[in-house]
Amino acid sequence: MQLALSTWPEVESYLTRSKAIIIPIGSMEQHGPTGLIGTDAICPEVIARVVGDEHEVLIGPTFNVGCAQHHLGFPGTMTLRPSTMIAAIHDWCISLARHGFTQLYWFNGHGGNTATIQAAFAEVYAGRSLETPPAKQPAIRMTSRNWWELPSVMAKCKELHPQGDGMHATASEVAVTYAAYPDQVRTQKLEPRIAPIGGFTDADHYRANFPDGRIGSDPTQATVKAGEQLIEVTANALWADFQRFIAH
Ligand code: NI
Repeated sequence: MQLALSTWPEVESYLTRSKAIIIPIGSMEQHGPTGLIGTDAICPEVIARVVGDEHEVLIGPTFNVGCAQHHLGFPGTMTLRPSTMIAAIHDWCISLARHGFTQLYWFNGHGGNTATIQAAFAEVYAGRSLETPPAKQPAIRMTSRNWWELPSVMAKCKELHPQGDGMHATASEVAVTYAAYPDQVRTQKLEPRIAPIGGFTDADHYRANFPDGRIGSDPTQATVKAGEQLIEVTANALWADFQRFIAH
């Protein structure tokens, strides 16, 4: 079930049996010469949709531009400032809360979003705590999970790509996007095969240190077949974790 493909009476009916929603959140940023700009948004989106379809869980629209200032040295990257993103996530949460959604599970595809998502949650909780007179709306609860950190997913990534999975433009995330969009597979060779690793600050610093955009990865080993396996394993892990979240 997708929010964007539902009517309002269908959402009203959904709310009589569930107060929970999964919201994919990612980024619009370069993923090396062979990875799609939308990789970090596509991965959580396609995995969440599997769970949404199999288990009749409502999947929200993908929050698809995140904190990616360090990738702005590469054409196509878009970013939000952390302060803008906090404000936007806050408004997404409060919009859903108004209708009675009280369990918001944000399913993240970009490590660079993590701190800002947590700051946005703090903003939502503070807004309710500071309300005078005390809030009448029911309390909402939010969580955020990185898809590659769910139980058993990391092990599957390592099994599929024992060398050069990397930290950015990973073989695993690129494989997931190729499985989602098989007509978008890129096949060119990359030099060096495994990209360098290291830290970064701003966009100029990043591009100087990682000239083709990758960090530590060899995404040329990504295949549709590996991506299909990762989508299946991660969708199962997401469903299990989501059930734990709503049970509390
Ligand atoms: Ni990524």
